[in-house]
Amino acid sequence: MTIRLAHLSDIHFGGENAAAVAAAAEHVNAGGFDLVIVSGDLTRYGERKEFASAAAWLASLKGPQLVTPGNHDAPYLAWAERIFTPFRRFEAAIGPAPTQTYLGHGFAVRGVNTARGPQPRLNWSKGQISPTQTRVAADWFETVPAACVRVVVCHHPLVEMIGGPMTARVWNGQAAARAFAEAKVDLVLSGHIHAPFAWAYPFGDGRTYAAGAGTLSVRERGVPASFNVVEIEGAAIRIAALGWTGSHFEPYRTWSVDRRT
Ligand SMILES: [Fe+2]
Ligand SMILES: [Fe+2]
Repeated sequence: MTIRLAHLSDIHFGGENAAAVAAAAEHVNAGGFDLVIVSGDLTRYGERKEFASAAAWLASLKGPQLVTPGNHDAPYLAWAERIFTPFRRFEAAIGPAPTQTYLGHGFAVRGVNTARGPQPRLNWSKGQISPTQTRVAADWFETVPAACVRVVVCHHPLVEMIGGPMTARVWNGQAAARAFAEAKVDLVLSGHIHAPFAWAYPFGDGRTYAAGAGTLSVRERGVPASFNVVEIEGAAIRIAALGWTGSHFEPYRTWSVDRRT
């Protein structure tokens, strides 16, 4: 049995790469994926019309979906809303913000919101994951069948990707990554840095992998617009970042790693 996940991120409606977004939808709809995962930053400024575009695009995708918010999904310009009800627009248009779960055939996925409205630091775009969020997510995996592939989805990479085009600086991120490794999570999927990557956390048995999807917006950071296809088959996890050439998607980077069995 092969589990196939489409992992898209950082579409930033309002500043999306329209051709790439349309082609990605075609690819997803032709792919017969077990789950479509979107790891946040659906909008550019958290505007209602941007959320409406995001919701319409999501509605055009076949099959089940799991969508987490990103820092751009808290309103940028409506300050009072950003401070007091940062994810109300996301919840009205897209779905629950704090957490999302999906139990598929042979796999279990848990979304965790690492984005915040206000933060007691200057840069509110960076991430946070509270010890409670981490513990509740790790505990949830104890309730799913033991054979399930375990996948966490969050917007910010919990541990900095060395050499990445930007940082996430997630408060409590290292501790969360360690806890998820100890909880035998297989994959921690993220977005935010607008560049695809895959690497093993240096925690636990070394078989918990962080994998990031790039962006489908015009805000490219040195790499083309892209999204990831994740396939899990027995002891193999294969991740392909499909990059936008301007006319079609083609493999940009691929990774093959060993799954713990
Ligand atoms: Fe982004
Ligand atoms: Fe982001």
